[in-house]
Amino acid sequence: MAKKILIAYFSHGGENLVDDQIVDLGDEGNTKVAAKLLQQALQGHGFNANLFEIEPLIPYDRSYEGTLARSRQEYESGAAPLINDGPNGYDAYDVIFLGYPNWWGTLPAPIVSFLRDHDLANKKIIPFVTHGGQRFLYSIETIRKEAPAADLAEGFAIAAPYMSAAKNVIEDWLKDNVDKLN
Ligand SMILES: Cc1cc2nc3c(=O)[nH]c(=O)nc-3n(C[C@H](O)[C@H](O)[C@H](O)COP(=O)(O)O)c2cc1C
Repeated sequence: MAKKILIAYFSHGGENLVDDQIVDLGDEGNTKVAAKLLQQALQGHGFNANLFEIEPLIPYDRSYEGTLARSRQEYESGAAPLINDGPNGYDAYDVIFLGYPNWWGTLPAPIVSFLRDHDLANKKIIPFVTHGGQRFLYSIETIRKEAPAADLAEGFAIAAPYMSAAKNVIEDWLKDNVDKLN
């Protein structure tokens, strides 16, 4: 039977730093854009995947400075903020693409919350990151620590200044890894 695929992601809409300038990315942050492109690309390869947005109950500030301040505090204290309930029928998923921005070199705190809130045994986790130059950096280590029972596969990284290349990055990854989804 075809594997059941979930794309679970966290993304911060609003202001972000692009080429050293603060720019408002609107309601769709880079990782959300990437998650949607991934869903479309999977469809093109004959796979249906459901999207699930991980959202902290207290949203991050739209402002870059506000988000920087809160996320830094969370990073330094190892906080895992309360997040929304998981997707319906979570147990039935075999593969979870886990998407996030690189924050402070590692996972944004809501992703840590997601990993702690959900049973990941017997699930394949395929991480994808959008980043300002540091790719996954320490985030894979953090996933391993928070979800030791998960079957962690190699995912893909999309550089934030080159979101126009995201589709190609995803297609390249799929070309080499589509067998992981069967
Ligand atoms: C609070 C914060 C911390 C960040 N820390 C890093 C970092 O340590 N390394 C890096 O390469 N990019 C860093 N970035 C850049 C983001 O990873 C990048 O802009 C990402 O595409 C944002 O995704 P989003 O729009 O889905 O939230 C940071 C951005 C923010 C807002």
